[in-house]
Amino acid sequence: MLPDLAGSRVVDLGCGFGWFCRFARAAGAASVLGLDVSGNMLARARETTRDDAVTYRQADLETLDLPTAAFDLAYSALTLHYLKNLAPLFGSVHRSLAPTGHFVLSVEHPLYTEPGPDYLDEGARTTDWLATGVIKQHRTLAAYLNLLIAAGFAIDRVEEWGASRAQIAAHPEWKIDHRRPSFLLVSASRASRAAHGPSR
Ligand SMILES: C[S@@+](CC[C@H](N)C(=O)[O-])C[C@H]1O[C@@H](n2cnc3c(N)ncnc32)[C@H](O)[C@@H]1O
Repeated sequence: MLPDLAGSRVVDLGCGFGWFCRFARAAGAASVLGLDVSGNMLARARETTRDDAVTYRQADLETLDLPTAAFDLAYSALTLHYLKNLAPLFGSVHRSLAPTGHFVLSVEHPLYTEPGPDYLDEGARTTDWLATGVIKQHRTLAAYLNLLIAAGFAIDRVEEWGASRAQIAAHPEWKIDHRRPSFLLVSASRASRAAHGPSR
């Protein structure tokens, strides 16, 4: 779902240990900015990155203001479901992209953040994952897509990723993935469809 990264300027929103920052450089990106709110995650990212073209910076995505037309790809893996308010961030990401820029993101699938009977009730969910009392924000699939559309993005591709039948055969404990996918992935373009020419 990623565009060709050769020569591109990349921002990774919620970069964690920086594995995608390093992957993007290995795939030819010219520069990568990794942003994360956690000083501990960034310390580990810096320890494991030997590359002057990768910069890590501490930032809270809830209040982030990115420079205008500064990136060709904005990327975010498994971070946006921690944010209470996505609209300001999506607006900032849209402005920060070059006219041909892309935004590729993954989040925990909405059926994963709300596996019970309250799918349409958006808001905080408390789970025990690595630590007790971790708060994630549940949104419907429509909410994610409509937030992107409202920010001006054109949706290019949507995937609901879960383990394949072959993977489940090897790992029977992943069987639930076939009923409720683990991940939602979206690829969007900064340019609106209208900008590509009239539709017929
Ligand atoms: C599950 S990790 C994913 C890390 C990385 N993207 C990856 O795929 O390995 C979620 C990351 O989101 C970061 N995060 C959570 N809330 C954030 C916020 N408000 N602003 C910036 N980063 C945040 C966490 O510190 C953590 O590094």
